[in-house]
Amino acid sequence: MNAHTMLADARNQTDKLFELVHPDWLYQRPIPERHRIVFYVGHLEAFDWNLLRPHMRNEEAFQAGFDRLFAFGIDPVDGGLPADTPSDWPSLAEIGGYNHRIRQTLDDAGHDCFLLHMALEHRLMHAETLAYMLHQLPLEAKCAQPQAPVPPSEPVRRQTIEIAAGRATLGLARDGAFGWDNEFEAHPVDVPAFAIDRYKVTNGDYLEFVEAGGYHDRNLWTEAQWQWKAERNIVHPAFWQRDGGGWRCRTMFDEIPLPLDWPVYVSHAEASAYAKRGGLRLPTEAEWHRAAYGTPDGSERQFPWGDEPPAPRHGSFGFARWDPAPVNAFPRGRSAFGIDGLLANGWEWTSTPFAPFDGFEAHPSYRGYSADFFDGKHYVLKGGSTRTAACMLRRSFRNWFQPHYQYVYAGFRCARGV
Ligand code: AVJ
Ligand code: FE
Repeated sequence: MNAHTMLADARNQTDKLFELVHPDWLYQRPIPERHRIVFYVGHLEAFDWNLLRPHMRNEEAFQAGFDRLFAFGIDPVDGGLPADTPSDWPSLAEIGGYNHRIRQTLDDAGHDCFLLHMALEHRLMHAETLAYMLHQLPLEAKCAQPQAPVPPSEPVRRQTIEIAAGRATLGLARDGAFGWDNEFEAHPVDVPAFAIDRYKVTNGDYLEFVEAGGYHDRNLWTEAQWQWKAERNIVHPAFWQRDGGGWRCRTMFDEIPLPLDWPVYVSHAEASAYAKRGGLRLPTEAEWHRAAYGTPDGSERQFPWGDEPPAPRHGSFGFARWDPAPVNAFPRGRSAFGIDGLLANGWEWTSTPFAPFDGFEAHPSYRGYSADFFDGKHYVLKGGSTRTAACMLRRSFRNWFQPHYQYVYAGFRCARGV
């Protein structure tokens, strides 16, 4: 598929997301740190337009106010919250007109392939983060959508796998393939021996931590995370809900008894506290790479399962499902070291703060994409979720969020030195 067809597909994905929200809710803000949903209705087109227009001949801005209004939408750091009101935003009809004109103008022109890919992946990332956001809406705000079934699986038996010292190649070589600025350049890292969980930590595993009082054990949390949690009265994962003495899981379109074999979705802080209780820690980005792409014979693979591109048998990704699958549901996705579910079905937090690789250069068309977040306040996530597009399951792709952020489709596995 070429970038044009892929962009048309991605537009279809994001259009469908806005359509599943009952219109009365489009001016709401389901996550306190994020913009109202309506911002994203304009943002996706404004981004493409701001990115591609400077490279088009004689193309004038026709609504410069919107180009600025919808240009950027990122979460504030340090807990500040946006204070705008619904009436600060234009009507859906006005935004619809703006969007329509942009799509037509862009589609009538040829574009640089790299920039087109940037527009494509920017939109696909929003297709995913929008799903996190819509997840937080009450069920009555959404029109339920179908999802693909998951293959049957056995009960999960926790297991740890030891990996001998070896080399991991992180990053992406500058040889023309598309990558975001933070993926460059390729470089080897020597990884000392370590042990890592075979499966992502499940809701069932995490339940033990919750019931043992993990959220109230001062020793398991850093000062900052303890404060954050106390101020907001966070005492369980954001996707869980108390139900008498038990728990329910808030799925995208339902509330169901907590599925014990699904990966738990938690913040970096919640993941770290769990690991600490077991005398363990989160893996570093390099350890995660070695676990996913390394092999006992020292060669490296493109994907955990080998070099074939991602297919449905390898895991849950690419928009086929809204909710996760059991952590052991896709044995065909297993890595050479025998580790399950590294790609897809939930991002995995690492202990590595988001920072540039050697040779980093901001992309001139989007200087702040990564550089605005090299602040020591974000952590790298690897892998991908059920709502991650296949093209972003490449090994060099790096995601990042703040450590207190509970809303990402992200879990973790534990590691330790050996
Ligand atoms: C890479 C997912 C952290 O959503 O904040 C979208 C991607 N940047 N628009 C985010 C992004 C600008 C970014 N993440
Ligand atoms: Fe964006």
